[in-house]
Amino acid sequence: MALIKLPGLIDIHVHLRDPGQTYKEDFYTGTSSAIAGGFITVLDMPNNKSPITTLERLRIKIEEAKKRIVCDVGFYAGSLGDNFLELKKMEPFVFGLKLYLNKTTGNYLIDKEILTKIFDTWESKKPILVHAESDIIDEVINNVKRTGQKAHVCHVSTKYELAAVIQAKENKLPVTCGVTPHHLFLSKKEAVKLGSFALMKPKIEEGFKTYLWNKLKYVDVIESDHAPHIVKEKKSVNPPFGVPGLETTLPLLLTAVSEKKISIKRLIEMCFANPKKIFNIETDKNSFIEVDLNEEYIIDNKKLITKSGWSPFADWKVKGKVKKTIIRGVTVFENDKILVNKSFGKFIKPILN
Ligand code: DOR
Ligand code: ZN
Repeated sequence: MALIKLPGLIDIHVHLRDPGQTYKEDFYTGTSSAIAGGFITVLDMPNNKSPITTLERLRIKIEEAKKRIVCDVGFYAGSLGDNFLELKKMEPFVFGLKLYLNKTTGNYLIDKEILTKIFDTWESKKPILVHAESDIIDEVINNVKRTGQKAHVCHVSTKYELAAVIQAKENKLPVTCGVTPHHLFLSKKEAVKLGSFALMKPKIEEGFKTYLWNKLKYVDVIESDHAPHIVKEKKSVNPPFGVPGLETTLPLLLTAVSEKKISIKRLIEMCFANPKKIFNIETDKNSFIEVDLNEEYIIDNKKLITKSGWSPFADWKVKGKVKKTIIRGVTVFENDKILVNKSFGKFIKPILN
């Protein structure tokens, strides 16, 4: 045993599917999956079945969340370019605004003109998060340059995107970026083998994984992009994009620590300190996790808590296990069991800076 204590981790990019698609995941199963994976705070994306583009929908989501979350949960607003008044109303209750510049799950795509308009109207210290792949990343950076608005580039997935982000950082623009565990750990070859179970947006490009590990010092955040879909959907003729990740992200990273590919210090930076700083997330000194750096186990679909019930990393051997998760002094997860009732978690808003 090599037990160590780490801060309770923060995942700034999850899709808990609640309300609207609770057959894939719900607030209880999604947040249970989070605490089993060492995360005590998650920020949930707005691409629900009915996208979170109005205060009314956000209110309903918050009220539903309060009934069945076991860790702390915050939200983002969404926009299709037709809700400027609503964006102003939602702003106090969210950690940022998420925009989709490329096609993915749901139908929330916006174009360049709308992107520009939204950058002009958001007027908030909170970041605009973008799903922006190589074809559109420059447009985002130009808008940051023009307006000074903070932007977070989600799940960087190509050399071109990462180079654009690095350049923006060198130009002192307020741009941060995140990468997913699947882009860090899955090769193109492995993704092809997994078929639709590795179908996600952005997709895995040949050679990117190696490039990313070499440039990891430029990455601010690791975000799971936990995007649960059930097995039946993934096996269908039109499989949806996305893979679950909350329970596998930390074990994979701890395995990388054991292989000396990354230090514990950097892990804490990317999964706790930077998310906290970028999104102004309140944390509690009595919230932490205990992990056994030496424990090895095989990722087993049958043991996962996520309602989706599978992982692209199934059958992988990992080294590093979450033994205990403590939130505000209360043990919420231990011995592979969830120990608190629904509604233990808190709906959170950013702390004012
Ligand atoms: O693979 C993905 N799945 N990428 C996204 O951008 C959305 C997500 C989802 O909601 O399923
Ligand atoms: Zn996502």
